[in-house]
Amino acid sequence: MEIFHISAECYPMVKVGGLADVVGALPKYQAAAGNLVRVVVPCYDTKFKKENNFECVHWGNVKLGNFDFPFSVLKETSNKLGYELYLIEIKELFDRPNVYGYEDDIERFFSFQIATLDWLLARKTIPDVINCHDHHTGLVPFLLKYAYKYESLKSVRTVITIHNGLYQGWFGFDKLHYLPEFDLIHVGFLEWGSSLNSLAVGVKCAHAVTTVSPSYLNEINYSANGLESLFNSVQSKSKGILNGIDIEVWDPSKDKMIVQNYSIDSFEVGKQMNKENLCEQFELDPGKPLFSFIGRLFEEKGGDLLPQASALALSENFENINILILGSGNSLIEEQLMQLRNDYKGNYNVFIGYNEELAHLIYAGSDYILMPSRVEPCGLNQMYALRYGTIPIVRRTGGLRDTVVDFGDNGNGICHDQASVGDICYSINRAVKLYDDKINLNKVIKTGMSIDHSWERVCQEYIEIYNLIIEKNEV
Ligand code: GLC
Repeated sequence: MEIFHISAECYPMVKVGGLADVVGALPKYQAAAGNLVRVVVPCYDTKFKKENNFECVHWGNVKLGNFDFPFSVLKETSNKLGYELYLIEIKELFDRPNVYGYEDDIERFFSFQIATLDWLLARKTIPDVINCHDHHTGLVPFLLKYAYKYESLKSVRTVITIHNGLYQGWFGFDKLHYLPEFDLIHVGFLEWGSSLNSLAVGVKCAHAVTTVSPSYLNEINYSANGLESLFNSVQSKSKGILNGIDIEVWDPSKDKMIVQNYSIDSFEVGKQMNKENLCEQFELDPGKPLFSFIGRLFEEKGGDLLPQASALALSENFENINILILGSGNSLIEEQLMQLRNDYKGNYNVFIGYNEELAHLIYAGSDYILMPSRVEPCGLNQMYALRYGTIPIVRRTGGLRDTVVDFGDNGNGICHDQASVGDICYSINRAVKLYDDKINLNKVIKTGMSIDHSWERVCQEYIEIYNLIIEKNEV
């Protein structure tokens, strides 16, 4: 089967969040299972782009209303990723340091999608399936069905995978003329409420919809930033598939980014050595339990709760615990977290930014990972943590609900119901008690480390959906 993944992010080419990890791993396992798999992302100015070789396989011009954007399609030549990686190079729009957050994001991602389809049109073969990811690629299913220009690609089946339904890519009717020509009778597919909505378009027009965990699929029926009734109406073509993790990249027994490798049989010594290194870097005490947070500092992830929860936990348990935070996002949260450094020196530290290597060391060297998310479609950090023998402390939501079971129920982690300072601190207290009960602690760690979250099994679930929509052959 020939499969294309189209996405705004793909690790190691470009990563902002978990989307990149999924689009960097799922294709690899689909290819290993015997499929022809290609990933298409915009050509940003990233380290990976600079350090790797690419050949130009196609070039053209995207027409966006009165604008003309020349583009090239660049193929990564070594094929070392396990799938073919293609970059859509539109210099004017993507040759910038950041992935998102520009005023012309609509123009940028419209052009990306149109350029990709123009290239597919020019190729000799027609793919079986296009798997779109999030709203940045939501127009693709619509354009394939209704734009005159892409008539010959009509047989391609489309899936849209929702990694985060909060962001939807709204745009006004004034941008409608950017789209390649289609019969206006179909304009309703583009509308949601009083605007045009890229994610809604994708959900309406794709042959199948997947979310990144089963619980998240349930949740978006009643909480999806305005799209609840839409998700309700497409239940028959929707499925929640829990993400996997790339067990080659995330393997404590082989990870080159950590100080000491270890396995389920040697985690006590291994983790302690990583912890000592980490604590030395951040002036923390390796004799005390280390609670860490890794991620984007936004309300969605419970980032706004961290300053107060940290202050409270540190004052209650001052001598007992360390807290370390790695992340960036909302500048007010960043500032509050920075300030705490003065008050709790020796027990608390923060690194504002993102650093992949440090993240690996934090998973290896921490005792607990905090994930007080308000919304978590899947969450990968808890799965990385489990594999590294670090106990996740999570709010029961989305994929966290599907992957973490409280140790009180013989599980692998600590769960709480509310995204609140009180619930976080209560869980930290339970964790401190568990830390002193080494027999139980090690049992919880081992339960977590033995879980198989690899993509091998999960990637088959995607293939089953592809097969189903190919067999159905609906218009
Ligand atoms: C988004 C979601 C996260 C999910 C990731 C990968 O970042 O917020 O929960 O794990 O996508 O699917």
